[in-house]
Amino acid sequence: MRIDDRVIEEIKNKANIVDVISRYINVIKKGNNYLAICPFHNDSNPSMNISESKQIYKCFSCGAGGNVFTFVSEYEKVGFIDAVVKVANIVGYDLSEYEIDTHKVDTKKEKLLKLVKDACEFYNYNLLNSDNEGIKYLSGRGITIDIIDNFKLGYAPSDSSKTLRYLTKKGYTVEEIVEAGIGINNNGFLDRFSSRVVFPISDINGNVVAFSGRRIDEGKANKYINSNENILFNKSECLYNFYEAKNYILQTKKIYIVEGFMDVIALYKSNIKNVVATMGVNLSSKHIRAIERLNSEVIFSLDSDEAGQSSMFKLVESFKGTNLIVKVTNVSENGKDLDEIYNLSGAKGVSDFVNNTMSIPEFKMNYKLSRTNLTNYIERSELIKYVAEIADKEIPSRIERESFITMASKKIGCDKSLISENIDNLKRKVVKSITDIEAKHNNSRYYLAEIEIIKQMLHNKDATYYYITNLGYLLDNTHRNIATYIVNYYYSQGDWDGKKILESIVEVDVKEAACKIFNDDGLAKKFNKSVFDVIKEQMPLEMQLKELRKQFKETVDMREKAIITKQIGDIKLALSNSKKVSKEDN
Ligand code: UTP
Ligand code: MN
Repeated sequence: MRIDDRVIEEIKNKANIVDVISRYINVIKKGNNYLAICPFHNDSNPSMNISESKQIYKCFSCGAGGNVFTFVSEYEKVGFIDAVVKVANIVGYDLSEYEIDTHKVDTKKEKLLKLVKDACEFYNYNLLNSDNEGIKYLSGRGITIDIIDNFKLGYAPSDSSKTLRYLTKKGYTVEEIVEAGIGINNNGFLDRFSSRVVFPISDINGNVVAFSGRRIDEGKANKYINSNENILFNKSECLYNFYEAKNYILQTKKIYIVEGFMDVIALYKSNIKNVVATMGVNLSSKHIRAIERLNSEVIFSLDSDEAGQSSMFKLVESFKGTNLIVKVTNVSENGKDLDEIYNLSGAKGVSDFVNNTMSIPEFKMNYKLSRTNLTNYIERSELIKYVAEIADKEIPSRIERESFITMASKKIGCDKSLISENIDNLKRKVVKSITDIEAKHNNSRYYLAEIEIIKQMLHNKDATYYYITNLGYLLDNTHRNIATYIVNYYYSQGDWDGKKILESIVEVDVKEAACKIFNDDGLAKKFNKSVFDVIKEQMPLEMQLKELRKQFKETVDMREKAIITKQIGDIKLALSNSKKVSKEDN
């Protein structure tokens, strides 16, 4: 289609860039300016500036910028004319007289999108207008027509030839139906979802791209099956209900993340619409970026079972790099999921449940606590160390830290001072004056020691146990990050499998670094305690020595100098002892 320049100008004048951009991302008003987290690079602080007077946007960090059409074109990944049409739709500019020209050949993707949309309508029609098991099943679960309409639920007929007939009549070939992830061509045509209730899944632009089909008997195997991945559907890019929830999220500044379709529906029944579901998988970095852009508080409410809780434990870590406030809901006492809570105690029960949240440090403590045998003194002391570490690293406010320690000591049944002392120990161990960079460049011995430690931990459960009980930190950010993944694995798994640990790492750069170390044949795999001591004992001692020598030089007070000399002597002795022990161990 061609649109007259004059018309384009009119559309531009009619649109307010702030309003249009607000439809896509969260825009914050600061004085006369508008700011947003830039969607075109990995932004964590709002670097994008939107000028209402000039009707342009500009990101100070990545340089992206332009007018309202540029934004829509880049954000939606469409061409200029398509962006103009979209903006025209937003501002209500009638372009119908141009439609005669829109005679273009469908690309393959467009054709498959239409196919899936038609299939969606077919399944929905079939659910509502035939005598079928699907509608009985859904009404048995309290799913009303309103809910069916809202989520466009459907039912795939038990006779696959009905699906085939409908779609071929609409002009699609069997190959296309298979390619769209709906059909299986195996000695004749089969509808993948045959005899299942179907939940349509949309992409971030609101196009239905796939289905998930639920079996309607009580069998456990393949409870849900999904369309297979294809050019439309990529599981790591879809979050169930994301498109539909977006405006509610932007309005309420809150996003609830639940596990499944039925949980989303339970919240919908409770009039909570700012909710998305992970569909039972871990979130990819793309998911996290998409959520981050909405700049809203995140509330995780996954199932209370082991799978839900351990996945939540991992998920909260992957949100660490973002600036979002993240909370989690309590474990439901009777292990019920949201759908069951709704059935038991209605909308109020659900809303009370999802709004009864706790902070991440509290959640992490509870998680570890429920997996600790408090009568086993090793497990018990590990937990106390863990709690001290969280308090130290994750709770910057002193008042909050204090009440966290009080609460933790009550739950563990130990004296408060025990946790506080552990925090002091941690502080002594990590010499705050050295930064990562220093550790890398000035102290390559430490850097190398850390790599050796990680290599041993990746290959070795004993090395990891030693790390947890004796060291508990590494200086380099990436190394510390890898170690955290290894420790998480330690707590969650039976067999030791380095490859699985590598798989669990979410951040690409961290994963890359870990793989490199894992595969470095120049490093020994065997657990060797002495290399841990380099970081645990020698490094802090050498740092203290450095600091004391500096103080010695700076002071003119002879008495002070004498004290420092004595301290230097003690440290040197401790250092040479540690090195001797390391040698003997070897
Ligand atoms: P759940 O087992 O909690 O399902 O799995 P649910 O949504 O609560 O459904 P009901 O109440 O049992 O009917 C959570 C999510 O994990 C995915 C689905 O997306 C589901 O909603 N899942 C689960 C699968 O993809 N396949 C399965 O076999 C099971
Ligand atoms: Mn569930």
